Amino acid sequence: MLPRQPDTGKGVALLGDEERKAVLEVLESRSLFRYYGPDLRNQVEGFERAAAERLGAAYSVATSSGTAALRVALAALGVGCGDEVVVPAFTFIASVNAVVSMGAVPVFGEIDDTLGLDPARLGDVISERTAAVMAVHLENGPCDLDPILSVTKERSIPLLEDTAQSMGASYRGRPLGSFGALGAFSLQLEKNVTAGEGGLVTTDDHTLWLRAARYQDQGGQFVTSHGSERGTDEVPAFVGENLRMTEIAGAIAGVQLSRLDGLLAAQRANWSRIRAGIEAHPGLEFRRQPDPDGDGGSSLHVFLPDRDTAKRFARALIAENVPAGQMYRGRPVYATESILAKRTASGKGGPWNCAEHPCAIDYRMGMCPQTEELVARSGIIVVAAGYSPQTCDGIAEAVNQVAEAVLA
Ligand SMILES: Cc1ncc(COP(=O)(O)O)c(C=O)c1O
Repeated sequence: MLPRQPDTGKGVALLGDEERKAVLEVLESRSLFRYYGPDLRNQVEGFERAAAERLGAAYSVATSSGTAALRVALAALGVGCGDEVVVPAFTFIASVNAVVSMGAVPVFGEIDDTLGLDPARLGDVISERTAAVMAVHLENGPCDLDPILSVTKERSIPLLEDTAQSMGASYRGRPLGSFGALGAFSLQLEKNVTAGEGGLVTTDDHTLWLRAARYQDQGGQFVTSHGSERGTDEVPAFVGENLRMTEIAGAIAGVQLSRLDGLLAAQRANWSRIRAGIEAHPGLEFRRQPDPDGDGGSSLHVFLPDRDTAKRFARALIAENVPAGQMYRGRPVYATESILAKRTASGKGGPWNCAEHPCAIDYRMGMCPQTEELVARSGIIVVAAGYSPQTCDGIAEAVNQVAEAVLA
């Protein structure tokens, strides 16, 4: 059995003196708010600029969370009542919640063996009401963006990349989040770059950026960063909310961003070492990588022959102290009770039964059979930057042994 793994996860494992210093500097300045203060250090603005540059975008807007980033991006696109947004049937619940909370109806698209949207099935769920397609890059693994984009471009539907779990990973040499109309990122504790909570929206489109900046700040109260451009009438006023990032979060995020490339390099090296140790196993089918070089290397995904074997595989690995499991318990996102029941907080309906969306929408288990089949027999092995070579080899050995036993 391997020794129990310490907390070696992504950005949080790298938190250190620089972050401490950056936080203290903001505290001492007493300027915790991004738009003004007695001695404003512009930490959020600095993070926005640096992140936009690293992530290949012309503009960015920092937010209070990744969910907030999705809401801001949807608002920038003008998504609301009567609209549908295609969301992959396998993702974190926030992708769906963001759509519902903006008043739009989530429609679920099948995923394929990349664990991202299946471009071949995307057309099946696009209707005249589709206002956006959301592609989710799960666990630092890029979706197959070229064929997805050829579907969305042909139909002139904007693509929103939910890149919450994959900051810094890439596809064909370009950072994820820079392919769609907008990218949305999370800085929650489990992410590559973390501030505990936080988010970011990126875009190349000037108008989308102005709309995003307005929405996260009550519809535009303050003169924003990036050269104070938001004072213009270019974008008419609309109602927004407060989804702003604090200066403390901005300070931590700025330091964490400078650690991103080192983190990804270490993750990728460990990923390759473990993968090389297990890929000869005849019973293991691996997640398809549309661009292996772009994968951020934070997890290995395998498909077992069936649900029962996948569960036994995950349980046996955990018993060996291998950080493993079934992502989202091997279930589609719509298996969540609130989604199946279409239940909002008010209990008085939601986007599904508003006058602007008169078509009946029904969610039920079995509605994305390809996704359900794939995720039921999936397993995840977590790869951390902090693993030693011995740990990587120990994980590979345990995976081989467990696969041998459960596939016998
Ligand atoms: C795919 C995905 N989208 C959105 C989010 C929401 O991010 P946050 O938790 O920062 O609100 C997450 C967070 O884990 C996520 O994994």
